[in-house]
Amino acid sequence: MIYENILTATDNNITTITINRPTKLNALNKKTIDELHHIFSAVAKDKQTKVILLTGSGEKAFVAGADIAEFANFSVEEGVQLAASGQEKLFNFIENSKIPVIAAVNGFALGGGLELAMACHIRVASDNVRMGLPEVSLGVIPGYGGTQRLPQLVGKGRAMEMIMTAGMINAEEAHRTGLVNHVVAQADLIEFCTDIAKKMMKNSPMAIGMAIKAVNANFTEGENGFDTEIKSFGKCFGTADFKEGTTAFLEKRKAVFVGE
Ligand code: COA
Repeated sequence: MIYENILTATDNNITTITINRPTKLNALNKKTIDELHHIFSAVAKDKQTKVILLTGSGEKAFVAGADIAEFANFSVEEGVQLAASGQEKLFNFIENSKIPVIAAVNGFALGGGLELAMACHIRVASDNVRMGLPEVSLGVIPGYGGTQRLPQLVGKGRAMEMIMTAGMINAEEAHRTGLVNHVVAQADLIEFCTDIAKKMMKNSPMAIGMAIKAVNANFTEGENGFDTEIKSFGKCFGTADFKEGTTAFLEKRKAVFVGE
């Protein structure tokens, strides 16, 4: 697939995906969501990539939301379809990725942009970020998981306030409330995320994938997180990575994981 709205590059087992519609502040239109789905699916099958960084093009925005111009005239049915297909193809897909996804949030993260960052496993913000879910100011509600993931990250009361006021918070508040893990100068953002990725890459990719699944189970309807943890914990004992990790420890050497 030739991408129009995203850029990708893989370097030292880290794939960086950049949403690239800077003149529209990287707003998520259908084509961009389809391209993101395509690249995330492709990377999931690619043995090279151990960590994914997701960011926005330019210095102003990560993503300023779903593309308002595209859905302004939608019907009820089209609205349902927009949210359902976006959640399945992109937001839930990223959340359930076995490969860790770090959002390098480099400016406005509004509406679908904040929802996208929240679907990632970790968020690092540049000091100029402005984050919010302004949907009610447009007469709609967050549709890409924002009503669910924002309370998970910042608590119900804060999420209710952010959603109902449609306000934006700055980097300091995003950090204080747990919405982002770290805040760094914009010039250092990618390097900082790369350092986190390097720490992750020392560990077993197989175990990391299992850990993501177990953590997510707590937030998945009909799943018991403790049961998922027990099953996943047990599965690890049958893997090459477990054998290598424990043997390397006992032999006092660095483990070399194959991710299986
Ligand atoms: N959908 C479609 N286009 C968008 C967009 C969105 N979510 N966000 C920004 N854009 C476009 C603008 O329409 C403008 O395009 P134009 O130059 O062709 O007119 C361009 O991006 C630049 O945005 P602009 O509003 O001129 O920049 P600004 O610095 O004055 O304001 C924001 C920045 C983020 C405050 C403002 O763009 C905004 O409020 N965007 C919408 C945020 C939102 O409600 N998102 C949730 C959607 S559900």
